[in-house]
Amino acid sequence: MTAAFNFDVTAIDGAARTGVIATPRGAIRTPAFMPVGTAGTVKAMLPESVAATGADILLGNTYHLMLRPGAERVARLGGLHRFMHWERPILTDSGGFQVMSLAGLRKLTEHGVTFKSHIDGSRHELTPERSMEIQRLLGSDIVMCFDECPALPASDDEVARAMRLSMRWAERSRAAFGDRPGHALFGIMQGGVNRELREESAEALKAIGFDGYAVGGLAVGEGQAAMFGVLDYAPGFLPAEKPRYLMGVGKPEDIVGAVARGIDMMDCVLPTRSGRTGQVFTRRGALNIKNARHQDDPRPIDEACTCPACRNYSRAYLHHVFRAQEIIASMLLTWHNLHYYQELMAGMRAAIAEGRFAAWQAGFHALREEGDV
Ligand code: GUN
Ligand code: ZN
Repeated sequence: MTAAFNFDVTAIDGAARTGVIATPRGAIRTPAFMPVGTAGTVKAMLPESVAATGADILLGNTYHLMLRPGAERVARLGGLHRFMHWERPILTDSGGFQVMSLAGLRKLTEHGVTFKSHIDGSRHELTPERSMEIQRLLGSDIVMCFDECPALPASDDEVARAMRLSMRWAERSRAAFGDRPGHALFGIMQGGVNRELREESAEALKAIGFDGYAVGGLAVGEGQAAMFGVLDYAPGFLPAEKPRYLMGVGKPEDIVGAVARGIDMMDCVLPTRSGRTGQVFTRRGALNIKNARHQDDPRPIDEACTCPACRNYSRAYLHHVFRAQEIIASMLLTWHNLHYYQELMAGMRAAIAEGRFAAWQAGFHALREEGDV
C-alpha cells in the first residue's frame, strides 16, 4: 500500500540524493527547485511557461495571500491551484518569515504574532492554528509549520529562544494540521549557526514527526561559508527517508553546494527577481543585460540554451527591450533564468543517478572559472 504522499530516494552519491516525491497532483523530481509564486503568480510568466521550464512544484505565500485577496476568498473560488491555473503541486510557506521581513509594527508572543499589513496598514494575527487554516483554505499540497526565523547575526540566547518557540509552534502546527491524506506537513529546523541548537531542534521535530523537514534560518546574512558549515552536519540530523528542504536558497553555487550536502528541495526569488532587474544566469556565470557592451551583440545569452529568449533573440534585442522598459524584457529574462535553474537541477539529478556527481560538480565550477560570459 503506497501512501498518497510518498518520497522515494532512487540513488545516493556521496551525501547527494535523487528521487521522487509522489503527490496526488503529480510527481516532484528531486533535487527540486521551486520557483516562487508569492502572490498567486510567478511574476512575468504564464503557469504553462513555468511548467515548460521543467518546474514540478511552485511556492506560494500565506502572508501575501491572506492579506490579498484573502484565503477565504481563494477557497470560495476553488482553491489556489484553480485560481492561478497551476494544477501541479504547490508548497506554501507559513507566513512567520514574511511577517518579520515585510510587515510593519509586529508584536510576538507565545500565542503568535500580530502585525500591520505592508499593503494597507490593517492589523492581522498569525498563529500556528491560523497559518494551518489558511494553508488548508489555499489547498496547499505541502504545508509548512509556523515558525520564527531570527535575523542573523543574533546572540545564542536569542537564536535558542526563537528555536524553542518554533518547536512549541511546530507541535501546535502538527496538532492543528490533523490528518489530511494526500497533503504533507513539513517541520522547520532552526538554531542559526549553532550545532547544538540545530541538533536540539532536529530532535524536537523528529519526536513530533513530519512528512518532510526543512532547514530554516539560513541565507539570512550569515554568508556562504557559514551556511555550508551548517549544511555539513544539519541534514544528517534529519531522517534519511524524508525530503529535506533548504528554505530561501539561493545562487546557483549555493544550490549545488546544498545538494552536495544532502538537500532535496530549494526555493528562491533570485531567478525571477533577477530576470526583472536584467541579471541573467549562464553556465559561465552571471551577466547583466543592461550593460552597454551588449547593445550591438547579435549572439544569444547562451548558445547552448534552448529557452525562447536564447532561441529567438539576440543580446542586443534583450538589451534594447530592457532599456526601453518593455514588459517582454521581464518575460524573456525570467524564462531564461528559470530554464537555467531547472537545467541545473536536471543535470544534478542525472549525475547523481549515474554516480558521477563529483565530476559534474567539478565541471560546473570549471566552466564558471573559465568565465567569459
Ligand atoms: N524562508 C527562508 N527561511 C525561512 C525560515 O527560516 N522559515 C520560514 N518559514 N520561511 C523561510
Ligand atoms: Zn536561455
